[in-house]
Parts: sequence; structure tokens; C-alpha cells
Amino acid sequence: MEKLLIAGGAPLRGTVTISGAKNSAVALIPAAILAESTVILDNLPDLSDVAIYSELLTEFGAVVERQADQMKIDPSALRSVPMPNGNVKKLRASYYLMGALLGRFGEAVVGLPGGCNFEPRPIDQHIKGFEALGAQVSIEGGAIHIRAKELRGAKVYLDVVSVGATINLMLAAARAKGVTIIENAAKEPEIIDVATLLNSMGARIIGVGTETIRIEGVDSLHGCRHSIIPDRIQAGTYMIAAAATRGDVLVDNIIPKHLEAITAKMLELGVRIEEHDEALRVIGSEVYEPVDVKALVYPGFATDIQSPMCSLLTQTRGTSVLTDYVFSSRFKYVPELVRMGAKIKLEGRSAIIEGSPLRAAAVRATDLRAGAALVVAGLTVKSGITEITGVEYIDRGYDRLVENLAGLGAEIWRA
Ligand code: UD1
Repeated sequence: MEKLLIAGGAPLRGTVTISGAKNSAVALIPAAILAESTVILDNLPDLSDVAIYSELLTEFGAVVERQADQMKIDPSALRSVPMPNGNVKKLRASYYLMGALLGRFGEAVVGLPGGCNFEPRPIDQHIKGFEALGAQVSIEGGAIHIRAKELRGAKVYLDVVSVGATINLMLAAARAKGVTIIENAAKEPEIIDVATLLNSMGARIIGVGTETIRIEGVDSLHGCRHSIIPDRIQAGTYMIAAAATRGDVLVDNIIPKHLEAITAKMLELGVRIEEHDEALRVIGSEVYEPVDVKALVYPGFATDIQSPMCSLLTQTRGTSVLTDYVFSSRFKYVPELVRMGAKIKLEGRSAIIEGSPLRAAAVRATDLRAGAALVVAGLTVKSGITEITGVEYIDRGYDRLVENLAGLGAEIWRA
């Protein structure tokens, strides 16, 4: 079993260049299914989720070529074949195949999504949306079967603000007959990225970034070239790692506006931040004040960053409260941090964190962002070697993590 080993204690220093966003890439790749000709994606992150998605498209008959950070997807020979098992089960974001196949072929049979199951993650809002567009949906043998004689635009009110449901409905509605309105839509930057790609393919989508999205269906979509937005979650993780190690790091190739919630919290803690056009410089301090953090939908503090933030909060001189209002129990990493000496109590959807130094231990990442928390924790430990297993989760979402951290002076290696 592969492990990450960290001999922590060194302040991170230097520049890290952030790759394209995972949560965009895993939606943009299936979005290419809706086109009749080649889609080129630039600034593609090098992640196992991306590799699995490209294999999946090949299994549907697309021709996929990858070179450096570019992917070319020719979907002209793609077919909607039933895909109840295999790669679909390895990814959470395989749910986007439902909307994309439905939009292009009027039918989809896709295994229920796998990926990071840190808590039950229902897809009822996706299904409600497909049904509103005229599809019949059933779940048989662990796979979802969706079929529509004709997809027709409709008004859909999402009961919960969901990134996945918002994107899936945009995908399905882009080629439906008539106008679809999504109310209570999610506003994450990745949703804007998907709409930008679809509009470059000839779709007519307006209102993204607000809670009402209007999609006027078109008969066909064509290929285009699109550059993926920077990964704000990776960027936030390096900002946190820089602060936690009392380092000085320029986090480059990012959109600082996407990181406003985290920047604000870091300033409250006592971290110094310099803003540049496409970079943030994070300068750590010896003493940090405790803060309260509430993970919310965008533009609030991202739930995907709450776990590494928890590791940073162990470094303050008081008691902080971290509450996740998006997922109710995304705290599987807490017992692992406690093994490292953290003083954390869980109460409902909150973690109460009393600042205390961490020590080296053998710990296990139980999901992707839990892995990020343990890496940040390991980087702060001043003596001994932290051993992290579950590396396969971390590889799903962090492009060249070991190389990047080593480039900033960390002693980190795989074994
Ligand atoms: C996406 C991100 C994930 C991030 C999350 C919240 C991708 C591939 N993943 O996940 O990294 O943590 O957004 O920012 O982009 N819900 C329902 N019914 C549904 C859908 C969601 O009840 O049909 C609930 C979920 O259980 C959760 C909340 O809504 O409590 C938000 O989930 P959602 O935004 O859908 O998350 P994902 O799209 O799964």
C-alpha cells in the first residue's frame, strides 16, 4: 500500500503554480458528449479522476487524446451504451454522464456514483430535474435508467443548493426543446466554467453565477476550445499549508476573487496576504488567533477546504469552532488528527478545536479532502515522520502534490 511520508517542521517558501480545477474538469469532459465535433480542453489537471473520466469517454466510443495539459475529445462516434459498472463506480462525478447522455441521446443507463463517500450523498435533486424535463427515471440493480421521448424545457426549483444537480440540469437542458429555468441554482465558479464551455459550443445559457439560470435549448452543439479555470481548492490548501508552517508562499496562476472567503479567514487568524492579479502571497506568523469558520455554498467558505482549515486551526492559541452547513458529517478525518495530538471535539455538524501542537503518527486518509487535512497537519509536526495511507484519495484531487510541496522546501516523499 502506497504511503506519503512527511518529516515536517520546515516553513514552506517559494512559488507554487496551481493547475486547472478538478471539479470543473470532471464536468467539462462529459459536457463534450453534447458536441458533434472536437472539444479541446486546456489547463487540464493531472489527476486520477481525470484519467478515469477520459477512459470512460473512450468506453462510450469517443476518441480522446491527451498531451501535457491538453485533452482533445472527438465525440462524433460516441454512442449511449449502458454503463452500469466499472469506471463509473470509481467516481462521484460520473453522475454528469446522466445529464450529458440524456441531453445528447435522450437516454442513459449509468451505475450509481462512487468516489468520496464521506456521508450519504443523495442525487434526488438531479432526478427531480430530469423528470421535470420529461424523462422517466428508475433505479435498477445499482444503476440509474433515464429515458425521454423528447426533452422539454421546464422550470425547476432545487430544494437544496447543489453543484452537481445544477450542472447536470444545464447539461440535459442545453439541447432540450424550449426554455429551462433553474431556480435556487448553485453559484460556484465551476458552474460558470461549464456554462462558458457550453456557450462556446453554441448553447444559450444566461444567469450563471446567480440563483436563476436560463437555458434556451438548441438543436445541436459544436466543438470548441476552452481553458479550465484554476483550482481554488488546491490553491486554498497551499495557502493553508503556507500559514500552518509559518512560511511565505506565492500561490500563482489563480483567480484571487474565488478565494475571498478563505483570504478573509486567514487575515482574521493573523496571516498576512498580498493580493496580485493572478496570485496571492501568504506570509505566516508565529501566533494565530482562534476563529470561527462556517462552510457554506459559494461565495461562502468552501466545504472542500474545511478539513485542511481544521488542521490550521490546531495551530492557534485558543478555541475555534468549525461548522459545515453543506455536509452534516464531513469529519471522518478528525479521529486521525486526534491521533496526531489534536484536541478536537465533535458536536453535531461542528468541530471544536483547541489549539495544540501536533505530533507524528501513522494515519489514514478516508477521503480526498481528509487527505489534505492530514498532509497539512504532517507539515506542521516538528519531529518524527508522519505516515499517511489512503494516498489514492489524495491523487484524485491534488495535481503533483508531492513535487509541489517538495519544491516549497517540504520533506515529503512516497514509499
Ligand atoms: C460538489 C463537489 C464537491 C463539493 C460539493 C459542495 C464536484 C465533483 N464535487 O459535490 O467537491 O464538496 O459540491 O461544494 O464538483 N444534495 C441533496 N440532493 C441532491 C444533491 C445534493 O440532498 O440531489 C445535498 C448534499 O447531500 C449536500 C448538499 O446538497 O448536503 C450539497 O451537495 P452538492 O452541491 O450536490 O455536492 P456535489 O455536487 O456532490
